[in-house]
Amino acid sequence: MDIVAVIGNPNPGGRTTRVAEAVGAAIAAGADGEASVETIELAEVAPHLFEWGNEDVAALTARVTGADVVVAACPTYKATYTGLLKAFLDNYGNDGLAGCRAVPVMVGAAPNHALAPEVHLRPLLVELGASVPSRGLYVLESQVDDLDAVIGPWAEHAVPLLT
Ligand SMILES: Cc1cc2nc3c(=O)[nH]c(=O)nc-3n(C[C@H](O)[C@H](O)[C@H](O)COP(=O)(O)O)c2cc1C
Repeated sequence: MDIVAVIGNPNPGGRTTRVAEAVGAAIAAGADGEASVETIELAEVAPHLFEWGNEDVAALTARVTGADVVVAACPTYKATYTGLLKAFLDNYGNDGLAGCRAVPVMVGAAPNHALAPEVHLRPLLVELGASVPSRGLYVLESQVDDLDAVIGPWAEHAVPLLT
């Protein structure tokens, strides 16, 4: 199983990356056969996201489309996903993620934004044709040092649906 964690965070390598990689590892652990997790930091292509036809961006969109499972992860900015993640996904045509299973994952400071992965990020992934079979995951900054406690209960129900 080919799992790709796409990180839409202007601050690469932060807590969002840790969370996304832990989610990817939990999915890989539940896979039937061999599974790999690749992390893509969108911050690395941020200056090129509005150059339509840019080769680096095109290579990344193709890479993500080819994955079995896409962990779409970003910090919560202004109660929703980041502009960085949206700018990357805007490079796809209609149904650009058809054939992928996707899981919305967001990290935030505020508990009152806990529905953001379901209310905001899920519709974006569905619009692109991805199948989003499990609940999304919202992780508070304060929970990042004990990820097993958050990801474990989520994974129990979500991983069988994603694999
Ligand atoms: C511009 C900006 C806007 C933010 N807006 C929110 C918000 O609306 N709700 C929230 O819970 N956290 C908000 N935060 C906090 C970030 O979600 C949090 O710092 C981030 O998830 C930490 O992850 P990181 O270490 O991977 O960057 C905001 C942070 C920034 C920089």
